[in-house]
Amino acid sequence: MTCGFGKIILLGEHAVVYGHPALAGGLSRRVDIAVSPGSGPTALEIPDWELAVTVEDDHPVATALGALVDGLGADRRGLLLRGHADLPDRAGLGSSAALSVAITRALADHLGLELDPDRLAALADVGERCFHNTPSGIDVAMASRGGWGLFRRQAGLTPIDAAPLQLLVGLSDEPRRTADMVARVAAARERDPAITGRWLDALGAGATAGANALATGDLAQLGRLMSAAHEALSALEVSTPTLDNMVAAAQRAGAMGAKLTGGGGGGAVIALAPERQDEVLATWKALGFRSLTCTVGERTARAR
Ligand code: PMV
Repeated sequence: MTCGFGKIILLGEHAVVYGHPALAGGLSRRVDIAVSPGSGPTALEIPDWELAVTVEDDHPVATALGALVDGLGADRRGLLLRGHADLPDRAGLGSSAALSVAITRALADHLGLELDPDRLAALADVGERCFHNTPSGIDVAMASRGGWGLFRRQAGLTPIDAAPLQLLVGLSDEPRRTADMVARVAAARERDPAITGRWLDALGAGATAGANALATGDLAQLGRLMSAAHEALSALEVSTPTLDNMVAAAQRAGAMGAKLTGGGGGGAVIALAPERQDEVLATWKALGFRSLTCTVGERTARAR
């Protein structure tokens, strides 16, 4: 059994696409995959996501599976990759990268290949590109390494030495596509480079400041930066009325900070509320939203 981990972007999503830093942490929630002999075309089954595809299907996951099988030189017939996931899919928590990393590790193990972290990330990125056209690489970096890190497109991931945090994750259950949201920001940037550029600069600066706050344990400052980032993401029109409502509800319930996480347009919001966890969770529940309590920033590389 090999695995890929989910991630939470604490600060800097969208700005990271344009070369700014983003601050992210690995989740202990993950996708596990084992390879066994199968019949017919090589197949992938994740019952938790009601997912069953073969390399011959017309489906984004099938395309990613085929690209990873080809990238590693594995067999397009006769393999069954079967897995388990305790990470919700399509929620902005990095499920596609976790899946790409888990498939890559599973196939490498099956072929007896040893992959160092950079090679693993480069191979898994081939799968991730089948889901998002131009991923910044942050999801794959976190899915393969875990811990906390400041990611930059050119420089990759700089690990941050900080303790894991408990974050509350509220699920909007709004359908979304990260690629659409990235395209929306790109269109806004073309229409109005000055204003869009200022919001992206602010998001990137927030990520750098957040890395310092995290490293020094200044949670109040981290919370303020999270709420400010949500304002910037709203101004970039990647939030939705539901996400705004969930963020405002968490703040009213006493969270130190709250924001959407990942591409936006739906998906998840996160709240930092060390003293008010029960209040925030109860508020979301009363509004009809599902939620998770997640430990973020755990070092996961040891789990392979
Ligand atoms: O929605 P997610 O979890 O795939 O996160 C996307 C993060 C973006 O910055 C919006 C895009 C990217 O490739 O970094």
